[in-house]
Amino acid sequence: MNTAIVNQAEGTNGAMVDRTRLPRHVAIIMDGNGRWARARGLPRVMGHRAGIKSVRVVAELARELGVGVLTLYAFSVENWKRHPQEVATLMRLLDEYLRRELPTLMKNEIRLNVLGDMTALPERVQEHLKEVMAGTGGNGKMVLNLALNYSGRCEILQAVRRISAQMQAGNLKEAELDEAAFSRFLYTDGQPDPDLLIRTSGEQRISNFLLWQISYTELYLTPTLWPDFGKPDFLAALLEYQRRERRFGA
Ligand code: FPP
Repeated sequence: MNTAIVNQAEGTNGAMVDRTRLPRHVAIIMDGNGRWARARGLPRVMGHRAGIKSVRVVAELARELGVGVLTLYAFSVENWKRHPQEVATLMRLLDEYLRRELPTLMKNEIRLNVLGDMTALPERVQEHLKEVMAGTGGNGKMVLNLALNYSGRCEILQAVRRISAQMQAGNLKEAELDEAAFSRFLYTDGQPDPDLLIRTSGEQRISNFLLWQISYTELYLTPTLWPDFGKPDFLAALLEYQRRERRFGA
């Protein structure tokens, strides 16, 4: 078998993604759904609906190539400030996605995981999330993290609170608290930090996403709106990542 071919996937411009040097963890800020809808004279929620197609395409390709962890920023703590109707639609779309996607997640051996405080989500969504997490818990090919009711600052705060409780209970000593120990109190416990963070729609902000974990993450900002982000766009991001020289401050 020709491993040179097996280990490569063709990008848009014919350049090859080297499957042996893939990011272990890709995080994505899926932005631009509203603008995509507005440009077509559609209600904002249609943009979110169209965004689900990109979620499917990117998750499938990440899994096919061999990315270990894919994290999608689906709903931030700040997103509760949106119009109640939009929030309700986002929750319904999430629920639909969970109900529909379970067979695909099982077939592709993808484990679903949530980053964020699930307890504020509608009960029905919580139940479905728990079902899908339990059902996919034994899958080992890729972890799909959905950041839901997520805030990087809140994540760090809840870690500090739990660490403080552990110290008071005498289960953790101050001297034992290094970066690795701290990371174990984050939602991403046990996962590598993102190697690549993609943000769509031309915005150039971090928006309270994975603040601890992205210290040395490569950023890829693209003007493409999330519903237009497909296979060629994801391959282009991976190619760009593979062109970068990562020095980690050295
Ligand atoms: C940002 O676009 C997008 C969101 C706040 C939600 C992302 C949600 C989805 C793609 C659908 C549901 C996801 C899953 C995983 C089932 P925006 O609304 O801020 O766009 P704008 O900046 O153009 O207004």
